[in-house]
Amino acid sequence: MDIYIDTANLDEIKRAASLGVLDGVTTNPSLVAKEGVDFRTRLEEICQVVEGPVSAEVVAIEHDAMIAEAEPLIQIAPNIVIKLPCIEEGLRACKTLSDRDVKVNMTLCFQPLQALLAAKAGAFLISPFVGRIDDVGGDGMEVVQQIRQIYDNYSYTTKILTASIRHPQHMVQAAMMGSDVATAPLKVIQQMMKHPLTDVGLKRFLDDWEKAKTLLVKEPAMA
Ligand code: E4P
Repeated sequence: MDIYIDTANLDEIKRAASLGVLDGVTTNPSLVAKEGVDFRTRLEEICQVVEGPVSAEVVAIEHDAMIAEAEPLIQIAPNIVIKLPCIEEGLRACKTLSDRDVKVNMTLCFQPLQALLAAKAGAFLISPFVGRIDDVGGDGMEVVQQIRQIYDNYSYTTKILTASIRHPQHMVQAAMMGSDVATAPLKVIQQMMKHPLTDVGLKRFLDDWEKAKTLLVKEPAMA
């Protein structure tokens, strides 16, 4: 499963990239607004750090305006993926851009039929927002499973990008369900490598090693 980081914070992206397991980046208008930086400049900076897909979202909600907004973003770098919302105009814009071989990430997906249409329109990625579905009492991971089955039934090549991830268990489930990609905040990516027993076990190994070294110094081996 590919792992993307879900942030517009450059330090976090560099930190995740330094782990050697980062495959891409997703941004959204809220994440960019939080950084208080120029959108285009930040995308240029991100594309210098990450070679994999970098999703850049348009804020227009009408086909022609979406395409107009996408044009300069596409020019930033070859790994830019245009992020469009799962609405009718977004679907049309997805078809227009996909027909031009521009990669599209259909975002704000909350039910499997949106994913079916996105695949038919040629989307490169579909982003089901599992955390936000859970937030309103639904089952976000069930939506991912439904999309997986639909895509497998018809051999759609659109990649499932499990998004709005809140905790490591979402990552486990995404990987077990065959999600192609999962995008998560840095905190969740770091949590993936953590287990208290690893820390306890490591401390014990290091303590035992210190004791063994003391013994070796006191009782050197006979020549
Ligand atoms: C994905 O592309 C979105 O940016 C993101 O996962 C949304 O997550 P949130 O629900 O935590 O805002």
